[in-house]
Amino acid sequence: MKISLPVESILNTKQFTFGVATASFQIEGAAESRLDCIWDTFCATENKIKDQSNGLVACDHINLWQQDVELIDSLGVDAYRFSVSWPRVINRDGSLNQQGVDFYIGLLDRLIEKGIKPFVTLYHWDLPQFLEDEGGWLNRQTAFHFRDYVELISQAFGDRVYSYATLNEPFCSAYLGYEIGIHAPGKVGKQYGKKAAHHLLLAHGLAMQVLRKTSPKALNGIVLNFSPCYAEKDTAEDRAAAQLADQHFNQWYIRPLMEGRYPDIIEQLPELHKPDIEPGDLAIIAQPLDYIGINYYTREVYKADAKDGFANVEKTIMPLTEMGWEVYPQGLTDILVSLHQRYQLPPVYITENGAAMADKLENGQVNDVDRVAYFDSHLNAVNQAIEQGVNIQGYFAWSLMDNFEWAEGYEKRFGIVYVDYVSQQRTIKASGLAYKDFVSQRHDTTRSTSSY
Ligand code: FCB
Repeated sequence: MKISLPVESILNTKQFTFGVATASFQIEGAAESRLDCIWDTFCATENKIKDQSNGLVACDHINLWQQDVELIDSLGVDAYRFSVSWPRVINRDGSLNQQGVDFYIGLLDRLIEKGIKPFVTLYHWDLPQFLEDEGGWLNRQTAFHFRDYVELISQAFGDRVYSYATLNEPFCSAYLGYEIGIHAPGKVGKQYGKKAAHHLLLAHGLAMQVLRKTSPKALNGIVLNFSPCYAEKDTAEDRAAAQLADQHFNQWYIRPLMEGRYPDIIEQLPELHKPDIEPGDLAIIAQPLDYIGINYYTREVYKADAKDGFANVEKTIMPLTEMGWEVYPQGLTDILVSLHQRYQLPPVYITENGAAMADKLENGQVNDVDRVAYFDSHLNAVNQAIEQGVNIQGYFAWSLMDNFEWAEGYEKRFGIVYVDYVSQQRTIKASGLAYKDFVSQRHDTTRSTSSY
């Protein structure tokens, strides 16, 4: 089983960036050498994490980072996307924690030495607990604390960073964390979700203004996740339901960035559910972006519902991944093309895409053919979007290695490298080998299929 793209595809060339991705809380461990974050607290609360696990050790990346960089290098990829743990680099008084900063500087320098482009996410969900104690993302001040942290850390990193993302998936932080409570900090209530989302977007805009000054040469942007919304039946009611869900879950986050306004459904929200918008906020949020990162895993299907206007339809169409997510590559093409038609998008990077599968380590190998098939079909879906005019510059596999999958704990494995959590041994899976083979066969320029 291989990954293969049409011969003329730009994905077969080195102009297209291929990378692997991780996030701080999911891999780092060494929790004792940083401040607590909201995920430490969430993990310590009973029944929040499926296997009752936590991020105290995770993949022990803080200690094993040098071998992990070797591993990334051995895969032959162009770029590595990772996140900075805010509670590792900032002290309670807002000053820099030099030990934490030095860890990332060492990592950045090694990546640069190896010719691997660092794509740095500044917030991948690990909010310092002391800020949550002051209200977290429901407190407008958190956006300004984020701006200050970004200013200090980007100055400390100097010109080492190829690309910054302010936030990873503000939808997940806001909706999963502050509305339905299945992620940290576990708050529940419709009155919270969109307030948290607004402060996250404000934090993004403030950070973009800083990055333009501190890191003008870096590619600065944000990473959003999208689950395109489909109607269960081709009826006016179900189509309207899918559109409404799309406004809440997808357009809510991208439209203010692109157009400086929220979707029109804001008018119909009960007063209590509305975000607290101050004059000038939307202009700050709509800063020009050097790129937009798009994460895609699956689609969602909706039907009409009298109470909320839309209801999620249970997945029955096979194949499903271990997360219960439908494998639906067409959704990736569809969302990319529709966003391109709707907005003036900056260059796009697919900053996450991948699948949890039931991996088995047998005789030192993991033969995850279904994950190879997943990458193959989704890379072909990216190629189709490019053919339909979307400017896509890169793709990152989620994830470099198995890691702490949030509320699912360690049971769900997304890596292209297998992690034995007892020995901390890493084993490249068949998908990692297929990814490596694919990136290494790329050539310098696009091959023309036309004959002369
Ligand atoms: C995304 C997260 C990432 C990972 C994948 C599976 O929503 O950004 O950290 O957990 O899902």
